[in-house]
Amino acid sequence: MTRRKVSIIGAGQVGATCAHWLAQKQLADIVLLDIVEGLAQGKALDLYEASPVGRFDVRITGTGDYRDTAQSDIVIITSGLPRKPGMSRDDLLATNARIVADVTRQVVAHSPQTILIVVSNPLDVMVAVAAEVGQLPKQRILGMAGILDTARYRSFIAEALQVSVTDILAILLGGHGDDMVPLPRYTSVGGVPLTELMDAETIDRIVDRTRNGGIEIVNLLAKGSAFYAPSAGAVEMVQAILQDQRRILCCCAWCDQEYNVGGHFVGVPIVLGANGVEKVIELDLTEPEKQLFSASVRHVAELTATLTTMGI
Ligand code: APR
Repeated sequence: MTRRKVSIIGAGQVGATCAHWLAQKQLADIVLLDIVEGLAQGKALDLYEASPVGRFDVRITGTGDYRDTAQSDIVIITSGLPRKPGMSRDDLLATNARIVADVTRQVVAHSPQTILIVVSNPLDVMVAVAAEVGQLPKQRILGMAGILDTARYRSFIAEALQVSVTDILAILLGGHGDDMVPLPRYTSVGGVPLTELMDAETIDRIVDRTRNGGIEIVNLLAKGSAFYAPSAGAVEMVQAILQDQRRILCCCAWCDQEYNVGGHFVGVPIVLGANGVEKVIELDLTEPEKQLFSASVRHVAELTATLTTMGI
């Protein structure tokens, strides 16, 4: 059997932790790449040296050379600055757009058949940048944000109800974080609608904490932003693709006619399988939900337009 290959660009907190989860799951050989000399090499070697104890049999390579990423089945882009306290994701726009554009160009030149998963922020716009530069079929460009937002939401619900996190299923729409559109009526606890188990006020409190989930971590860490949950989300996407699981997951994906978005990358529930986005699932939204979703799409569109005026 040929071995699968996943490259991770950016060997910082998110990238290195992606490599860690991926190795533990033995999903593929891993190439970790960073612009900082020695960083990817050091972390890859350290992780490889953990493999006899962790019992994972995968090849882990650290590099600064894109030729080592050639023919990757999937590339995860995590390169870029994280937030500091007081910063919004949008404050990262220009710097990270330049980094994501440069990285995507080199990634696609060496792996034209790859599926790209972008994690860098501000997420939805960075996916648009990668799509513009990479010119891959839209089905093969995705962003990881919805899984993170739903994971935060699910973990807070499980904690409040004192039940297993694995029994909470949820869908969220829209842009990452502040812009997300919560859908409590599509949240279930072991099959029971959340609205039957929790009062509206508690749900609102949890939704609010979820919206601010990223900044809560940024403020606690004081330098750097979340990395365990974001990387776990990216690896869940990798697994769905490599094992053609056809998972229903909230991801940032191309929507044109879908939800009348009109050609933007935004967070929606999709079926994720071997070809990337197999299908966008369209929900019958209520009027208030539609309005929240349109506001979220507008925000993504405005940020993307800002980039054009900056000439990026
Ligand atoms: N090419 C390759 N690697 C790069 C480049 C580049 N052009 N520019 C920066 N990097 C690397 C940095 O050297 C660093 O090691 O990207 C890495 C980013 O790691 P961290 O600073 O630890 O940031 P991290 O917490 O991993 O977040 C990365 O993901 O969740 C988002 O908002 C977050 O945009 C941020 C990204």
